Amino acid sequence: MKCVVTGGAGFIGSHLADALVERGHEVHIIDNLHSGKKEHVHKDAVLHIIDIRDLEKIRKVFKDLGAVKCVFHLATLPRVPFSIEHPIETNAVNVDGALNMLVASKDAGAEKFVYSASSSAYGDQNTLPLTEDMRVNPKSPYGLQKYIGELYCKIFYEVYGLPTVSLRYFNVYGPRYNPEGDYALVIGKFIKQKRQGKPLTITGDGSQTRDFTHVSDVVQANILAMESDKVGKGDVINIGGGSNTSINALASLIGGPVQYIEARLESKDTLADIKKAKELLGWEPKMQFEEGIRTLLRNTA
Ligand SMILES: NC(=O)c1ccc[n+]([C@@H]2O[C@H](COP(=O)([O-])OP(=O)(O)OC[C@H]3O[C@@H](n4cnc5c(N)ncnc54)[C@H](O)[C@@H]3O)[C@@H](O)[C@H]2O)c1
Repeated sequence: MKCVVTGGAGFIGSHLADALVERGHEVHIIDNLHSGKKEHVHKDAVLHIIDIRDLEKIRKVFKDLGAVKCVFHLATLPRVPFSIEHPIETNAVNVDGALNMLVASKDAGAEKFVYSASSSAYGDQNTLPLTEDMRVNPKSPYGLQKYIGELYCKIFYEVYGLPTVSLRYFNVYGPRYNPEGDYALVIGKFIKQKRQGKPLTITGDGSQTRDFTHVSDVVQANILAMESDKVGKGDVINIGGGSNTSINALASLIGGPVQYIEARLESKDTLADIKKAKELLGWEPKMQFEEGIRTLLRNTA
């Protein structure tokens, strides 16, 4: 079966592409290598170095491919602070780019479109765990843009009949995690600081909690979403570890001195309700958080 993975040279997309190749699929990656790396692309996957803002080039890939089983859309400018500084640039990739992928997939008659959505759509809520039927409350252009992508997926099912499903990931971690730059996510940042013998910098008081999800579990959810007949009507499904950890607890698990720095605009707590994923996909996270972190520490030592 032919599959398209946008963002397939990036962190999550490259793991997904590997898993699809290993299952015998013909995998085509669309990535402009903005942050993705060629060395993360499986040798048996085909890399198309294309920007998702360029609809004509995307159409050309689909035309050459013929029948496509599934399009996994992951390409994004993914950082919250970056989106606050660059709302127009991030909108062009995160919203217009997603729309281009939906249009090209619909026109090519793709059998399914699996969209990588984000728990950042929830923003702050009064109750936990976060359930898919809660009213969204994004706190940043990124959160809003990712949510607009979900709405487009729903509309593309309802108006054009393209089977779509949105998977809302909660803080994904694992190998190939990007530890560089000011916008690095917390686990990568801590591991890098520890390696450099620097204190782990905690924003605010560190009591904020996150539901961390291992990348192998996210990959499995994508594959089940492609295969399951129960999803495709624009469904929105949480993909999270189902338990949360404070940033202070994460720092102790990684170990070493800490330094508290200024709080930033971010959600206080996240915790996924994962009942829907169990019901519709038969999915459950397999990787225990402590084990996932220990493995990551061992492999990045
Ligand atoms: N990592 C997380 O914790 C997390 C949480 C929730 C949702 N997500 C979603 O998962 C998806 C993958 O995230 P990731 O962490 O692997 O990010 P990543 O930055 O590692 O990967 C994104 C990929 O998209 C590519 N890209 C960026 N702009 C592009 C463009 N204009 N055209 C083509 N390719 C482009 C990059 O080169 C990169 O390879 C994203 O949709 C993100 O919103 C991630």
